Amino acid sequence: MTDSMTYAAAVLARCDELATFSEEPRRLTRRFATTALWQAGERVRGWMEAAGMVTRRDAIGNLIGRLGDGDRRTLLLGSHLDTVRDAGRYDGMLGVLVAIACVERLRDRGRSLPYALEVLAFADEEGVRFGTGYLGSSVVAGRFDGADLRRRDSAGVTLADAVRAFGGDPDGLTSAGRDPADLIGYYEVHIEQGPALEAAGVPLGVVGAIAGQSRARIAFTGEAGHAGTVPMALRRDALSAAAEFVSAVEAVARAHDDAVATVGELEVQDGASNVVPGRVVLSLDVRHAADAVRESVAAELFDRADAIANARSVVLEWDVVQETCAVDCSTGLTELVAEAVAACGQPVVRLTSGAGHDAVMLSTIAPIAMLFVRCAGGVSHNPAESVTAEDVAAAIDVSTKFLELVG
Ligand code: GLV
Ligand code: MN
Ligand code: MN
Repeated sequence: MTDSMTYAAAVLARCDELATFSEEPRRLTRRFATTALWQAGERVRGWMEAAGMVTRRDAIGNLIGRLGDGDRRTLLLGSHLDTVRDAGRYDGMLGVLVAIACVERLRDRGRSLPYALEVLAFADEEGVRFGTGYLGSSVVAGRFDGADLRRRDSAGVTLADAVRAFGGDPDGLTSAGRDPADLIGYYEVHIEQGPALEAAGVPLGVVGAIAGQSRARIAFTGEAGHAGTVPMALRRDALSAAAEFVSAVEAVARAHDDAVATVGELEVQDGASNVVPGRVVLSLDVRHAADAVRESVAAELFDRADAIANARSVVLEWDVVQETCAVDCSTGLTELVAEAVAACGQPVVRLTSGAGHDAVMLSTIAPIAMLFVRCAGGVSHNPAESVTAEDVAAAIDVSTKFLELVG
């Protein structure tokens, strides 16, 4: 076995172990500020400290491991430990664990870096619990929006209370940003979450840009009524309005090249088989690499929702919960990643990420670069997520080389 395969095997075993920290039995669900997330972080903290890093949690509960003196400029590495519901075990965790493996490998080789290095394990990237993503990295980037503290999860818990219960400090979130002057950059390894690398037959991809996202929480409110007595012509059925809107989402996205739009949550409030639905709440997620296209798709969908609501005499509420522009990765750091890929004997394949990443927030305070790892079938946000030890070993080789090139 090669040196890097040993580290890759350890990374995969750690991904398996972290998958046992879940809110739900027999499947992986680990949302922001839950006991499962805390426990996963403490396990990662143990690996960081064993690798020689000094660890701490910041005001929102991101776990940070540092290697190197306080006065040195710092390269940040990382990804997130929170997951979607019924998640795979690599989305986020792989980037944290590959970063720790690189630190271990440097230590085992007796090598030190001429700069400080920090591994960040972000507490929220997916945004599942409070509807808006990047909460963890927004704090590090100094871009946390204090108004978000009033957001409530599905159980009515405010974000402020969730942060407190997680040992964080809601009052410290807007002032916990890192000073860009201290930072060399941010580097994130992540599974591709799409099929391009597998189709190209290559293990790794160099990311050039990350698509923007628009997310909204939408409600249609009609009038609840008796399923056996309210004539069809007199109904103000909120679910029928929502169903028409969901079809419009698919049609409008299909009409714009490379746009994607998704309704991933839909709740029929107080629903019962014998009740005409009175209120439906749903999520909308729109993405495109070009901000103008994303914005125009989102605007067109608002118009469609408004027209559907008017025609059915139901009330529309449209709450924008996230607007994130597309970001380019930094040319300088990205070319070092490409150089590292080539130096490790791998083909340099460049891609744009349709998925969002913590790197988006970090791009506001530091140059960013990302390396994608092939995943089977391009499947992600699904328990079937899978990577090979060989591909993870290639990512460890390239990342170690990248750290040397940065120096
Ligand atoms: C994160 O997984 C996202 O792109 O939504
Ligand atoms: Mn992710
Ligand atoms: Mn994800």
